[in-house]
Amino acid sequence: MILEGIVTTVSREGAVNIAPMGPRVDETMQRFTLRPYKTARTYQNLKKHSEGVFHITDDVLLLARAAIGYTEPEPQLQPATCIRGFVLQECCRYFEFRVEHFDDSEDRAELRARVVHSARIRDFFGFNRAKHAVVEAAILTTRVAFLQVDTILAEFARLETIVRKTGGTQELSAFSLLREHVEHAPRQTGNKVESA
Ligand SMILES: Cc1cc2nc3c(=O)[nH]c(=O)nc-3n(C[C@H](O)[C@H](O)[C@H](O)COP(=O)(O)O)c2cc1C
Repeated sequence: MILEGIVTTVSREGAVNIAPMGPRVDETMQRFTLRPYKTARTYQNLKKHSEGVFHITDDVLLLARAAIGYTEPEPQLQPATCIRGFVLQECCRYFEFRVEHFDDSEDRAELRARVVHSARIRDFFGFNRAKHAVVEAAILTTRVAFLQVDTILAEFARLETIVRKTGGTQELSAFSLLREHVEHAPRQTGNKVESA
């Protein structure tokens, strides 16, 4: 199955990158397969330094911020225990990993990773429809460069009903952040790209 989470990696210069990623996992979580596009910073960082941290979280504001490129407020990061990397403190569980095999034959690479250390920071909140709707909205937001903005906004209208009905402050803030990002994205009309 695919488990949606957040991956931190470090560049050669030591800059931390935070990106939502959905690796293929099994229940043991001892190994997993990351599938980043080769254009992703996560892929480029892991090619140079094959260690990172995969985080599971119910904090959808954290996920939304990661999806639009983390700026403010500063993420809370602590050095990892067994690898050169960083742990996001707002997560529930995390898995420090080392990539052992790269398959670069397709645009979407397959990186087989082994977990070298894992830990729990806090409990997972539980099922909530608004949280899941924000995850869907975050995925759509990261596809803004190759999907029509109007198509994304039509889907947002459906998701917004769920967020309003079942969410709290965190879910509403995360959803607004994503919608604002999409609304300000350049609009694609055929081959032409126009500003929103
Ligand atoms: C929940 C979620 C899961 C995602 N999973 C992947 C993935 O498995 N592979 C991928 O290339 N992009 C995935 N994305 C999109 C990336 O997060 C997005 O392209 C991001 O800009 C990559 O960041 P980076 O360039 O800093 O690595 C996902 C986005 C979300 C919101």
